[in-house]
Amino acid sequence: MGVFANTDAPATGHEQVVFCQDKHSGLKAIIGIYSTALGPALGGTRFYPYATEEDALHDVLDLSRGMAYKNALADLDLGGGKAVIWGDPEQIKSEALLRAYGRFVQSLGGRYYTACDVGTYVQDMDVIARETRYVTGRSVEHGGAGDSSILTAWGVFQGMRAAAEHLWGSPTLSGRRVGVAGLGKVGKHLTAHLLADGAAVVATDVNERAVDWVRSNHPEVDLVQDATALVAADIDVYAPCALGGALNDDTVPALRAKIVAGAANNQLAHPGIEKLLAERGVLYAPDYVVNAGGVIQVADEIEGFNFERAKLRATRIFDTTRQILRLADAEGVPPAVAADRLAERRMAEVGRLRTIRLS
Ligand SMILES: NC(=O)c1ccc[n+]([C@@H]2O[C@H](COP(=O)([O-])OP(=O)(O)OC[C@H]3O[C@@H](n4cnc5c(N)ncnc54)[C@H](O)[C@@H]3O)[C@@H](O)[C@H]2O)c1
Repeated sequence: MGVFANTDAPATGHEQVVFCQDKHSGLKAIIGIYSTALGPALGGTRFYPYATEEDALHDVLDLSRGMAYKNALADLDLGGGKAVIWGDPEQIKSEALLRAYGRFVQSLGGRYYTACDVGTYVQDMDVIARETRYVTGRSVEHGGAGDSSILTAWGVFQGMRAAAEHLWGSPTLSGRRVGVAGLGKVGKHLTAHLLADGAAVVATDVNERAVDWVRSNHPEVDLVQDATALVAADIDVYAPCALGGALNDDTVPALRAKIVAGAANNQLAHPGIEKLLAERGVLYAPDYVVNAGGVIQVADEIEGFNFERAKLRATRIFDTTRQILRLADAEGVPPAVAADRLAERRMAEVGRLRTIRLS
């Protein structure tokens, strides 16, 4: 294990990056801790067949930084971290590998809490938990929060309501047409909230089973061929709920919606897209602000999971989004920039309190 604690790493600003290897089980993992200013770093473990170690490192540095900002704005007493396991989960995932990984997490003594991400599931967290107590996102049988998409969708809905209030004066989607791209775990729940609120929903998914589910459960939803057709459709709100990079140089100029609020991570394809959105008069509710319901749900496990308490906290995504949109107006910057500023402010102001000695 190579530990490069407190490197000055000017390019990334991370507190700690840990390389973990267990040759017998084939484990190769990197744990990135961006900041513990607000508390232990929390973020999931991505198990993915990266082409190179550099790609894995790049991803963990990016993702762990993103978690610090997300957790800061979710009002959690948690810093930001993330881990990647390098390899094909279909080929190499095993009890020994997961437990070896768990021991590395435990060796950090609580500076990092792990959870699920792409390629890891609640059952994997239960295995990891046999070696470490610093793990969330566990199965319900083990006191876990279960499916985090429930509160992710609830939080996205709250963020969307706040954007609607900011733009149209009333915190409701009633009478609006909302385009949902991706009818997976989050997209399905979000569709139900929108319909209950009186919105019309138009949606798309590449997966025929997901489309069939909507056809049978919500026949009132209009379906379009693909995300390109959805972006060009006559919609008031666009909710990207599939993959990252949904807002790019092709989609933004074609977008007819006046609000973007969705669950997908990393919606802005590259820096500068936030300005393009603002220039086109599109109000963008930053992805990491509105999709924080999932991390709120799993973070609640640290206290002993209570769904109502977690839901209350996810409901406050409405207030946070509203605050960010107002700050963006006041400071004359896009909402994505305002969100970053607010997160950095909390990390600096609350993180600074640790310099006050307690004894
Ligand atoms: N689940 C959570 O708690 C959570 C939390 C935060 C962020 N997110 C993000 O939200 C997004 C959705 O998460 P999820 O858990 O619902 O995932 P999911 O895999 O259950 O659903 C994604 C859906 O998008 C569809 N899809 C993929 N490519 C598409 C395309 N080009 N056009 C249309 N549909 C497409 C898939 O077929 C799938 O049905 C992801 O980006 C995820 O990272 C999820």
